[in-house]
Amino acid sequence: MVRKIQRARELFKEQRHIFKCPHCGEEMKVERENRIFCLNNHSFDLARKGYVNFLSGSSHTKYDKEMLEARNRVFKRGFFDPLLEELKALIPRGITPPTRELTVLDAGCGEGSLLARLLEGLIRESSLGFKRIRGVGIDISREGIQIAARDYQDIIWCVADVARAPFQERGFHLILNILSPSNYHEFNRILAPGGTVIKVIPGRDHLKELREIFYDDTERDGYGGEEVMKAFKENFQVKDTFKLSYSYNSFLKGEKLEDVIKMTPLSWRAGEKERIRALKEGVDRVTVDLVVAAGKGFNSFHG
Ligand SMILES: C[S@@+](CC[C@H](N)C(=O)[O-])C[C@H]1O[C@@H](n2cnc3c(N)ncnc32)[C@H](O)[C@@H]1O
Repeated sequence: MVRKIQRARELFKEQRHIFKCPHCGEEMKVERENRIFCLNNHSFDLARKGYVNFLSGSSHTKYDKEMLEARNRVFKRGFFDPLLEELKALIPRGITPPTRELTVLDAGCGEGSLLARLLEGLIRESSLGFKRIRGVGIDISREGIQIAARDYQDIIWCVADVARAPFQERGFHLILNILSPSNYHEFNRILAPGGTVIKVIPGRDHLKELREIFYDDTERDGYGGEEVMKAFKENFQVKDTFKLSYSYNSFLKGEKLEDVIKMTPLSWRAGEKERIRALKEGVDRVTVDLVVAAGKGFNSFHG
């Protein structure tokens, strides 16, 4: 079996032209077993576990191992499969001109399974015509990237900040930004002509059953989705936007509910008492409510 670090090194070497040094902007090279250098000799760790770390020091994030492992289990149980199906249908429409070779970035990829499963689906569906898809996932959480690298070897995983994306200009046909912070200046810089950015944000009713228990908040005061979408529209020519809502009669109690509770930032504000109550009483359904928008860069050649 090819060792993880070896596989990550091969992938990085093959794709090094899309990267650049986040400190000085120089090109990158791979010369040593476990480090990546730029032409000015800034260097980054190529970790044994199979990812590149572009951040020096530790990043402080509340997205810790426990939360991202719970997210990983919930996604593997199919929680976001309807979203993946929608994205699979949306993506081929969004790339103009159509290309058989697609380079995709997931900005804020967390534990990586959404990107990995989406790319698997796009490749498997031969009628879509993609011959080759290259995937890169970045996240500021090292724990998230470690899970991604553990589970999926054919994607380049990087610990990096979306606000200082370690990429050359115009390298990506598609940028995914799912329930994560964004940096539109950087997205516009690294988006290829004719490429698409897909943003997914929570809708008003997302996980409303948990919110009701945690905060007694059915109206969702302070919902900021409209402002987020307004900012997206100011930065991209929006080509598609839709709401995706569905609910589950599973994930209602026991371990499955516990993982849904653990995986969401909603639980950060909830007290221990409310979490215990939710687990004891269970919920009668779990609602997923998302807003999806796809846009092209204003400077796109083929918009
Ligand atoms: C709610 S999670 C979503 C992760 C993944 N897209 C998913 O849907 O499972 C938000 C993610 O954004 C990441 N994040 C927060 N700030 C970031 C930044 N400045 N650069 C890169 N990732 C960031 C967090 O570490 C976390 O993994």
